[in-house]
Amino acid sequence: MLDPRLSIIEDRLSNIERIIVVSSGKGGVGKSIITSTIALILAREGFKVGLLDLDFTSPTTHIALGVSAEKIQPIEDRGIVPPEVHGIKYMSLIFYLGDKAAPLRGNEISNALLEVLAITRWGKLDFLLVDMPPGIGDLMLDVLKYFKRANFLIITSSSKMAFETVRKLLLLLRGLGAEIMGVIENIKLDDSTYIRREVNALGEKFLGEIHFDENLEEAIGSVEKLLKTKFADEVRSILWELLKT
Ligand SMILES: Nc1ncnc2c1ncn2[C@@H]1O[C@H](COP(=O)(O)OP(=O)(O)OP(=O)(O)O)[C@@H](O)[C@H]1O
Ligand SMILES: [Mg+2]
Repeated sequence: MLDPRLSIIEDRLSNIERIIVVSSGKGGVGKSIITSTIALILAREGFKVGLLDLDFTSPTTHIALGVSAEKIQPIEDRGIVPPEVHGIKYMSLIFYLGDKAAPLRGNEISNALLEVLAITRWGKLDFLLVDMPPGIGDLMLDVLKYFKRANFLIITSSSKMAFETVRKLLLLLRGLGAEIMGVIENIKLDDSTYIRREVNALGEKFLGEIHFDENLEEAIGSVEKLLKTKFADEVRSILWELLKT
């Protein structure tokens, strides 16, 4: 039987200009902090921005944004209206699970995604940023299925081992006909050109590098501090370059 939520999803996403899915395959490379920072920068520039945290088992964007589920909750009105945080329409399972772990498997993850996409009323947005969990699995395939117009922004660290996972992801996405914006190298410590060369050799766009910022950790939780870091400056310049194209 056809799931009635499928037709609702298309409708729910129909007023979103651009969907950017931030992904890596690899864990701990900065997906969530980069996604949150991009959302904040765009919102500050006056764009209508949404952020959807799809890391169902261990969401973290709320930490970067300083959101507490005890203080802010979505409103129910013919669906769920995401609360606005620092000018961003924000949706995460933390609103429903709090700090509890959500040990979801296969089918349940697909179902949670369907549910969240079917109920969330984003309204009109210039950008929807989607933070992905690590790994190349069912969720990635589901995202490709439901976000038909998604642009994939790929994050890697400088690690050769991390990049091997990213390479697999890039080849998979390309094989499935996904729109790949390019690759950002994060947590860079030296001036190696390895990642840049590998990305170019694959025929994908190398979008730029973000260096290790020793002041980043301390800035997390305060949006004002976060936006003043060198990290945010580097995100900003990559983002403006990216939006020109
Ligand atoms: N350029 C950077 N400089 C310093 N610290 C960084 C940088 N980028 C990310 N970090 C730190 O690395 C840690 C992991 O970042 P983050 O949680 O965003 O990664 P992730 O890819 O989303 O991880 P996961 O795969 O677990 O979801 C965080 O503590 C973050 O503050
Ligand atoms: Mg993350």
